Amino acid sequence: MAMRSSLLSASVVLLVCMLNVHSSQAVVGSVPEQISLSLGRSLSEYAVSWITNSSKTSIVRLGTQASSLSFTFQGPQATVFKEITCGTSRNLHSAIINLSGVPPAPRYFYQCESDGVQGPVLSFRVLGAPNPVPHRFSLFGDFGFGDNNTVYEAMLGMSKQEQIDAIFHIGDIAYNIDDNCNRVGDGFYNRVQELATSVPYVYGVGNHESDVLHSYDSYNHRVGSGQQILAANSSSDSVRWFSVNIGQAHIIMMDTDAWIYPTVMPLAPTIYAWLEKDLQSVDRSRTPWIVVLGHRSMYCTKNKDGECNGEALSIRYGILGAHYGLEELLIKYGVDVFLGGHTHHNEVTWPVREGRETQTNYINPRATVHIQCGIAGVGAVPDYFEIPPQSWDQWRDLTYTRAFTMMTVHNRTHAQFDIRGNGLGAPIINSFMLVQSNHGPFEAGYSTPDHLKPTLPILKMASESVRKAKGHTQ
Ligand SMILES: [Fe+2]
Repeated sequence: MAMRSSLLSASVVLLVCMLNVHSSQAVVGSVPEQISLSLGRSLSEYAVSWITNSSKTSIVRLGTQASSLSFTFQGPQATVFKEITCGTSRNLHSAIINLSGVPPAPRYFYQCESDGVQGPVLSFRVLGAPNPVPHRFSLFGDFGFGDNNTVYEAMLGMSKQEQIDAIFHIGDIAYNIDDNCNRVGDGFYNRVQELATSVPYVYGVGNHESDVLHSYDSYNHRVGSGQQILAANSSSDSVRWFSVNIGQAHIIMMDTDAWIYPTVMPLAPTIYAWLEKDLQSVDRSRTPWIVVLGHRSMYCTKNKDGECNGEALSIRYGILGAHYGLEELLIKYGVDVFLGGHTHHNEVTWPVREGRETQTNYINPRATVHIQCGIAGVGAVPDYFEIPPQSWDQWRDLTYTRAFTMMTVHNRTHAQFDIRGNGLGAPIINSFMLVQSNHGPFEAGYSTPDHLKPTLPILKMASESVRKAKGHTQ
């Protein structure tokens, strides 16, 4: 027994030495990098996050001209993020820009600074400027830099033309941010920096952010650095589920892994309770539109296996077909749209509940419209649908175009949805106007018909090894 303890101690020492070898390697420099702009507690606040190798201080200097950054916003001391795979470390910085004491302007210039070392001078356009409406959001999942991916360029082009007000990346970031001792994450954040610093870029969690043993360590640290304020402001204790108000839209980011992975399922009651409380708190007179974003979708026809059957049904009707079903909440609180990704395709439903469309138009829907937009940066092209089109299908993209969804909130009754493909001008490949003159609960007394409930336990024994062995899996 003593020998086993000694061997164990020696192994631990060896492991620590190996980690120290890794951690001594400079993975980032002293100049602020991986800079990302996010939202704050109101449209007067913007959170900025960045990374250095070992600096302590976090300062953002801001002004209305690039040559005069006279306003200073001090953030907390940097947090050391020592990732668990190799032990490499990075210092995470953040600061909140509060525009309430700054002369109003449609655009501001800003610069991050840590321990006296400054990053590039950047600029962002105030959300909604110069007009308060419409607000235009880019929504998508599954975005990395694979082969022939020009979705990023398409969005960057629209951003430069001031056609995007905020971006919501609904999980599966970079494939995977924790790979190669988190260097894949470093590369991704630097690659999207030009876009992610010009408009608020908000992240949600997907299965590819689950890290080792479903710890979500990299996501929690990296995304938490800039988005903790969003979680705190929506009474969430996790950056994996939170909500934010922008103009007339209440946007909810959900963690759907808790409905799939047994190791994460213990969180489902907490997330479900938070979601219902958040939905209850929505003032529809101020934010009539409710959009729920979750990495995995409830309605899709791409795969016959668990992705579009077991998993979708688990989220729709609940774990084991009975516990914490999300569709019940969507109907109960009149959620206008649920948008997800995960499976790499584009698909749009009619207003649908319990697996049946309530109508074949978008005039005053009596159920939630579901949009699948999970092919922003990955996916085999061409591909095919394994399940025939369903009566609730409005559209399936048979061309498997890499795409993102633009939601334009025109006013309290009209919201436009454009699925835009990659390439020059981001051509629209599907479009519809959602008209709702009576925002609110769809119907009381909702219950899932027995014949629609899944009959088998829906458990997916996924593991990191399986996930990574597949490479660019869903
Ligand atoms: Fe996924």
